[in-house]
Amino acid sequence: MFTTTFLQRRATDTAVPDNLFAAIEDLKQKLNAVILAHYYQNPDIQDIADCIGDSLELSRKAATTDADVIVFAGVHFMAETAKILNPEKQVLLPDIDAGCSLADSCPPDAFAEFKAAHPNHLVISYINCSAAIKAMSDIICTSSNAVKIVNQIPPDQPIIFGPDRNLGRYVMEQTGREMVLWQGSCIVHETFSEKKIVELTIAHPDAEVIAHPECEPPVLRHANYIGSTSALLKYTSQSPREKFIVATEPGIIHQMQKLAGHKQFIPAPPLNNCACNECPFMRLNTLEKLYLCMRDRTPEITISEDMRSAAERPIQKMLAMSI
Ligand code: 13P
Ligand code: SF4
Repeated sequence: MFTTTFLQRRATDTAVPDNLFAAIEDLKQKLNAVILAHYYQNPDIQDIADCIGDSLELSRKAATTDADVIVFAGVHFMAETAKILNPEKQVLLPDIDAGCSLADSCPPDAFAEFKAAHPNHLVISYINCSAAIKAMSDIICTSSNAVKIVNQIPPDQPIIFGPDRNLGRYVMEQTGREMVLWQGSCIVHETFSEKKIVELTIAHPDAEVIAHPECEPPVLRHANYIGSTSALLKYTSQSPREKFIVATEPGIIHQMQKLAGHKQFIPAPPLNNCACNECPFMRLNTLEKLYLCMRDRTPEITISEDMRSAAERPIQKMLAMSI
């Protein structure tokens, strides 16, 4: 008896309409909601989003939206950033388990010790980190503006950069600045096989390799162009080249194809014969979960006011420094 009731309740709770696109549009009107989606989301989520972008563009949008509800189709730190910037708004994340290996690679207690071991250092943190790390930081950056922000820091000011060591190393090369790096990384961007990328460049001599700066140095060395997801998208749409080997999460290829359907985009292969170049956290979000989170207004991002206000300061600094 218990089992039947339980199963019936589950079936009712999770029932989704046949036309999910129409149902989500309807909820969007009812809630006065905006759907923000990162480029690494599944194509159907990208297609229903009001705004698709990289981390910087989505933060800017979150900072200026007049919607009452922000539905963040991305990962936890992104939705958390939207909540930090909008304490009075409801922020929903379709799957609360959509985390980030890079954010997880920087536990707050260990980072506090690291910071204490480097007194007088300015802390610049990549936005891919928890609210607790943001609260310990002086300035936040994204992959779009990291170089620009570091270039604005006086040359004699020592800097801690975290949590991504690959982006940190790339920024050091671009700016000529020494920085103390936290040794974190992203499982997706460290999965690309240099050997397979080289094999692809031999098989496709007319292709250019484009890469996200979260990739490891051996992959970046083969890149003709390095940039954030938005920068890669812009590059492929404007370049006269017709073929690209894309070393970042392949979700971005959906937009690349939309902007330049006649061009060919080859996802850079992972080390193993797996789909590990797809972010397992980003891909937890589905159209069904997007619908359910809007219908039930949960999972919701919450954050204590002390933490929120401490984390907001370095984000606002970033927004002011990246105009
Ligand atoms: P950008 O959105 O800044 O390109 O970063 C990519 C990423 O890994 C997001 O998690
Ligand atoms: Fe985090 Fe990497 Fe996934 Fe981006 S792609 S959300 S950095 S695990």
